[in-house]
Amino acid sequence: MIKDAAEYIRKKLEIKSPKTAVILGSGLSGFAKCLENVVSVSYADIPNFPKTTVSGHKGELIKGYIGDEEIICLNGRFHLYEGHNPKVIADVIHILKELGIKQLIVTNAAGSLNLDMAPGSIMLISDHINFSGKNPLIGPNDENYGLRFPALNNAYSPHLRNQCKEIAASLNIELKEGTYFYVLGPNFETSAEIRAFRTLGGDAVGMSTVPEVISAVHCSIDVLGLSVITNYGAGLVDNTPSHQETLLEANKASEKLIKLVTTFIKGR
Ligand code: HPA
Repeated sequence: MIKDAAEYIRKKLEIKSPKTAVILGSGLSGFAKCLENVVSVSYADIPNFPKTTVSGHKGELIKGYIGDEEIICLNGRFHLYEGHNPKVIADVIHILKELGIKQLIVTNAAGSLNLDMAPGSIMLISDHINFSGKNPLIGPNDENYGLRFPALNNAYSPHLRNQCKEIAASLNIELKEGTYFYVLGPNFETSAEIRAFRTLGGDAVGMSTVPEVISAVHCSIDVLGLSVITNYGAGLVDNTPSHQETLLEANKASEKLIKLVTTFIKGR
């Protein structure tokens, strides 16, 4: 099933040897416009591929280039709040693995848990807290991909993080760093939840990314994670978060994020 999907994508997009895949979060699809010689396939046409249901998440797998680097880009991601089985996310990551991907750049929109991190900030994810009770690795373990009990300390590659920090400094982009707190959604949080998540050590809260990261680390793909902060967590200031605001703010900050990611890829 995984191999069929990978083979279909490889043939259809004439994929050679991509090292890097990028997953685009809400409002960040502008990244795809920075790629050259783009070809794409709709998720709906890929055998055994899940379908996205969220506005702001397109649903196409793209191949393009940044300089000489062949890049795979997932424009549209799968969230567990859509009703997907968590294993679906492992399947998608395994398809990337079959295509030869060695490093995954995950991006998302997130709410700030930290008054020092205003909307418009970019946060390098240094760690996460999986508060969802879900895990993409539940079920029989395929030893061909990874261990039954993978370690997740250093899930966000310290090496890639250092590179990213250097590149951000060279571009004069202020980069915050912190822990991504993963909730299932789809509702935004209560004020009491936001207070609790701050106490538990989160810096930003969001409804994506962590299942992808767990699957990628499990099958030895290096991960770089970046959050665009689109709002303060509910009740942190006098605010009511909304999806419209998330998309708007992510769009506004996307230029900065895109510059960072494209320069990061070029610099490798
Ligand atoms: N909470 C959860 N997910 C989010 C938020 C938020 O405040 N903002 C953007 N994604």
